[in-house]
Amino acid sequence: MVIGTLYGLVGAIELVAPDLLGNIGWLVFGRIRTVHTNLVVFGFLTPALLSVGHFVVPRLLRTQLFSEKLGIFIVCLWNVIVAAIFITLSIGLSQGREYAEAIWEIDILVAIAFALIFINMIMTIRNRQEPLLYVSVWYITAGIILTLIVYAIGNVIWVPGAGALTGIPDAVILWFYGHNVLGLLLTPLAVGIAYYVIPSATRTPLYSHTLSLAGFWSLLVLYSHIGTHHLIQVPAPTWLKVVSIVGSIGMVIPVMIVLINFWYTVKGKMRTIHENIGAKFVFTGTVFYLFTCIQGPIQALPQVQRLTHFSNWVVAHAHMGILGFSGMVAIGGIYFILPKMTGRSIYSKTLAEFQYWMILIGLVGFMVVLTTVGLVQGNSWLNGETIYRILPQIHNYNIVRAGLGVLIVTGAIIGLYNMVRSIFFNLGETA
Ligand code: HEM
Ligand code: HEM
Repeated sequence: MVIGTLYGLVGAIELVAPDLLGNIGWLVFGRIRTVHTNLVVFGFLTPALLSVGHFVVPRLLRTQLFSEKLGIFIVCLWNVIVAAIFITLSIGLSQGREYAEAIWEIDILVAIAFALIFINMIMTIRNRQEPLLYVSVWYITAGIILTLIVYAIGNVIWVPGAGALTGIPDAVILWFYGHNVLGLLLTPLAVGIAYYVIPSATRTPLYSHTLSLAGFWSLLVLYSHIGTHHLIQVPAPTWLKVVSIVGSIGMVIPVMIVLINFWYTVKGKMRTIHENIGAKFVFTGTVFYLFTCIQGPIQALPQVQRLTHFSNWVVAHAHMGILGFSGMVAIGGIYFILPKMTGRSIYSKTLAEFQYWMILIGLVGFMVVLTTVGLVQGNSWLNGETIYRILPQIHNYNIVRAGLGVLIVTGAIIGLYNMVRSIFFNLGETA
């Protein structure tokens, strides 16, 4: 998260002062942006959520992880993958498809890693002592197997050179994948973890198990095929666009089911959420899930997207969803399980609180500034202005955005320090 957000900050500074860093290859905006998105998605969120998942699933099944050695091997493999993504993208080796930039060799390693994670999880489920499969186990396991399939298809791994089809079919398949990295990897893992943290922190049974399963299946049915809502402006088949728009509106169903279930569980117990920093991060994540998923269906409408597409409006939505929802849940999940793993409370609750506020203020600021910039850009473009004539109008906003980025990077650095201290040099009270 520290390195990924630092890259985001450099990108934001380049949008304010494009010539500041000269013409050094690995520092040009195109590469900085790609490294930023890949590091935050594959370097921070995926391993953070998977690690909490590896703690939660065996606990809920009252059994050991099938193979600790295999788990450690996957961690090493994943770090090799992230380092390889970082190096290849920095030197300009990219397949040029958003969220699928990694070259073929890395794609194969990702597929192997997810296959191994799936084996470890499914064997843990097979060996379980607890007959009931709590909904977190459903979400986390589904996220892993579906990502394996979607990653292989979306990266067109049967075409090693290009990693792509040609023409519109490629755009359709890319966004089937790009959308599902969010919808079938980050979302189910984050929801699965929230389903564990919220009842545990409040020491309250889940409001409704029936609702939890209804939410799970409706997410799978609806989210999986709506990626074409990223292509409303593209000559993709109209029926596919209609399906994606209808599905996007329908997404309100699984989202509201999940949120009603969380919030009714918490009802009357907000104090316990406030007192536990892990639960506080996770609960805040659920609030951002609501905001993201109200905005999402609206911007899937063609009339709205005509204004918002290609503008910073979408970048606001992206940060709200990925950092506000899955990022908050990932950080909260780690803070929640750390004391259970080390047997001691986290190194500093004050630092964790400080990190929380740094990220929250930075993020809310991002949402306001980027949404405003998006509307300025969209309206001007609709009125026939060219892109470069709008730049002076959004310059000051870009400066504020870079400043807000400093808060988020600071939050990331504080979090890293706090977690390293909690794990390796913690002499604090017993949890
Ligand atoms: C963990 C935290 C973060 C996550 C998960 C994240 C995620 C993302 C994603 C998914 C995009 C692509 C958006 C799109 O294509 O619509 C993006 C773009 C970007 N992010 Fe972040 N980001 C994070 C933190 C930051 C920070 C702290 C900054 C610093 C200001 C930043 C600056 C940027 C910039 C400049 C872009 C490119 C926007 C453009 O192309 O106009 N991000 N980020
Ligand atoms: C009800 C659920 C949601 C719907 C209907 C939805 C809809 C959309 C639409 C239509 C776009 C494309 C906008 C455009 O290009 O003009 C988009 C972009 C995006 N969404 Fe969502 N969204 C939802 C939830 C989420 C969640 C939960 C996350 C994060 C975990 C997320 C992350 C993103 C990102 C990162 C992008 C930018 C993709 C890019 O162009 O690089 N969305 N969303």
